[in-house]
Amino acid sequence: MTQPAVSKKVSLLQEEVGLALFEYVGKRRHLTDAGRELLTTCGDWLETWSRFEQSIADLKGLKQGRLRLAVVTTGKYFMPRVLGPFCDLYPGIDISMQVLNRHRLIERLTDNSDDLYIMGAPPDGLEIESERLMENPLVVLAPASHPWSNRRRIPIADLADVAFVMREQGSGTRTAVEREFRERGLPLHVKLELGSNEAIKQAVAAGLGLTVLSRSTVGPDATQSELVELDVRGFPLRRSWYVVWPRSKQLSVVARTFLVFLRERVEFLAGSSGPSPPELTR
Ligand code: PGA
Repeated sequence: MTQPAVSKKVSLLQEEVGLALFEYVGKRRHLTDAGRELLTTCGDWLETWSRFEQSIADLKGLKQGRLRLAVVTTGKYFMPRVLGPFCDLYPGIDISMQVLNRHRLIERLTDNSDDLYIMGAPPDGLEIESERLMENPLVVLAPASHPWSNRRRIPIADLADVAFVMREQGSGTRTAVEREFRERGLPLHVKLELGSNEAIKQAVAAGLGLTVLSRSTVGPDATQSELVELDVRGFPLRRSWYVVWPRSKQLSVVARTFLVFLRERVEFLAGSSGPSPPELTR
C-alpha cells in the first residue's frame, strides 16, 4: 500500500473505534491505550487465524503450513544445516525461525509464541516437555598466537586472573560459565561484554581476552581459524541442546513432523559425531 492509502485506512479505523489510536509527542508518533489494545487484539487474532489454517491442514492430513521455531542465538550455527534437508523433504512447509538469547526465548516460550524451541538446559518452573537432542560442549577459546595455545592441562584456577570477552547477561552460555566459576569459587573477570558470538570471536582474535563459547561457534575449520581451543582442566563444560514445547500445547502435524525429523537426523546434520542417518523418506 502507498503511504496515503495507509493513512486513509488508519483514519477510517480510528473513526470505527471512536478513539484516537495514535498521539504525537513532538514529531514522534506513539500508540494510545486504545491503539495498544487494538494491536494486541490483532496479534491474538492473527495467531488464532494461523492456528485455524494449521488445524485445517492437519485435518486434511497435509504436511504443509508454517513451522514456527525459536532458537537460542548459538543455535544458528547448526539449525540452518538441519532446516535445509527438512525443507527439501517437505516443500509445502514454510518456516519462520526467531533467533534470540536464552532469556528472550524463555519469554516467548512462556507466551506460547512458537511451535518448538531449541535451547540449552530446559528452564525450571515451567510446564514444558523437553527432549535432549545432542551435546553442546562449551570450550575456552584464545587467539591462535596465545602463549597457552600449546600448554596442556591448564588448571582452571589460572583463568581467575584472565580478562574474558563474554556474551551478555541473559545468554545461556554466559549463565553456564558464571555458574561454573561460582561453584569453583573463582572470580570471572568480564572485560568486554558483547551480544554476538561472531563479535566475540573477532574480539578474542584481536587479543582482547579469552572467551568461553559453544564449540559449534567455531565450526569444523577451527584449526585454520585465528582461534585456538585451550586445554583447560574441567573443560569442555558439558551442555546439551534440547527441543522444548509447552506441555499443554497441541503440536500441529507440521511441528510433530519436524520433531520426528530432529530426533532422527539432528546429530548427523549438525555435524557432531552421531550414527549414520536413516534413509531420507517421509
Ligand atoms: P545463548 O544460549 O545463545 O543465549 O548463549 C546458548 C545455550 O543456552 O547454551
